[in-house]
Amino acid sequence: MNYQLVLIGFMGAGKTTLSQALGRANGLPVLDTDELVTQQAHMPINEIFSQEGEAGFRQREHLALLHALTSKPAIIATGGGIITQANNRQVLQSLTVPVVLLTASPAEIRRRLAGTTDRPLFKKDWPSLMAKRNGWYTASANRVLPTTGRAISELVQELQHIMEEVSIHD
Ligand code: S3P
Repeated sequence: MNYQLVLIGFMGAGKTTLSQALGRANGLPVLDTDELVTQQAHMPINEIFSQEGEAGFRQREHLALLHALTSKPAIIATGGGIITQANNRQVLQSLTVPVVLLTASPAEIRRRLAGTTDRPLFKKDWPSLMAKRNGWYTASANRVLPTTGRAISELVQELQHIMEEVSIHD
């Protein structure tokens, strides 16, 4: 199957969890830009931010996105800040494959990310970061999947439907 699906959304929206579950359910490779970046840099995200700043991380993330998109079939999970860069938004908007925006309420994100330690931008004022980014998320996606209060199995099914719908029209 020549298939690609990209997941975007704020930290804690479920990109990593759902990409893994969807990949497993369909026997498809899963690529995660955060993972590609840390593998390539040989450093965890916190360290990349402290050594190279956010700008350094974003440069690496852009290359990771381009690299991930060369893999087909694949389920691709992205970092929550990927849409802050105009070049990434342009790339995502140009795709004909599903780019699914996962959304979650602030309360749900707070619950899911309680105790997170390797997310340098998940600081006290993260709700304002989320508000600032919302327009970029919707502009970069061609589908939206709300995740608050929904089981992983149910969300995987919805993503399966999106995959089936697209392959019928291929
Ligand atoms: C970031 C989100 C993180 C990671 C980095 C920056 C962001 O990915 O890329 O910490 O700017 O929102 P997740 O969305 O997978 O947590």
